[in-house]
Amino acid sequence: MFRDLYTGLIAVVMVLSAESSVGPSNSSSFCTESKECLQFDLLCKAEEYEVRHYSPTRWVSTDAEAYFMGVGAAMAFRRLFQYITGANEEGVQIEMTAPVLVKIPEETKMWEPAIYTLSFLLPSAYQDNPPTPTNDKLYFTDMPDMDVYVRSYGGWMLSVTSRLHAHLLTRELHRVHALYNTSYHYGVGYDSPLKLLNRHNEVWYVSEGDPVCPGPVEKPTEPTNT
Ligand SMILES: *[C@@H]1O[C@H](CO)[C@@H](O)[C@H](O)[C@H]1NC(C)=O
Ligand SMILES: *[C@@H]1O[C@H](CO)[C@@H](O)[C@H](O)[C@H]1NC(C)=O
Repeated sequence: MFRDLYTGLIAVVMVLSAESSVGPSNSSSFCTESKECLQFDLLCKAEEYEVRHYSPTRWVSTDAEAYFMGVGAAMAFRRLFQYITGANEEGVQIEMTAPVLVKIPEETKMWEPAIYTLSFLLPSAYQDNPPTPTNDKLYFTDMPDMDVYVRSYGGWMLSVTSRLHAHLLTRELHRVHALYNTSYHYGVGYDSPLKLLNRHNEVWYVSEGDPVCPGPVEKPTEPTNT
């Protein structure tokens, strides 16, 4: 009986945490254009990166094979956009959320196309029962509970800038002996192409084991004049 109660409690907690992982956007943050955004807990903030914890979430994804990330991403973006604007069996319109994720393989060769996976976050109303896509190139991805190393940058997420910031982040992660999955990273975009100012992008590496945190989250201390 206690066991039932216990498993019941766990189920309740899991449902609660699943709901809280996609939520209203917060105007004080960088996620400003969509009604709902991916939520996270900030574990710590270093000078060169921050560590966040993400709860499990469901995404709609599609793969594109391309020589250049931009080309692959544009193709995949169109398919996903069609899905949320009605190309699904229920014919429903689904609100755009943020961010948009591009899974980028770490090793790409100039003479071979790479597989880029683009994903849209499903809004909270569709996390559990997303409409079935009419395009069979779309599928659902269940992102596990994860800690990620994050580096943020402004401007446009281009192949070159994305690689540069991925490189700068891994350089720092090596320096602090942080362990992460070295086979891929995520390019993370928060803004529509129409937004011109204060654009926000990120690079993510998924941490393996306990993340290396330089210290607890602290308010930046005012520099003291000496
Ligand atoms: C937005 O987020 C900040 C920092 O995470 C928090 O202090 C603030 O209360 C939030 N605002 C709203 C309206 O949720
Ligand atoms: C790293 O990611 C790849 C691709 O998603 C996966 O196949 C592999 O198992 C991961 N490695 C570890 C150690 O989790």
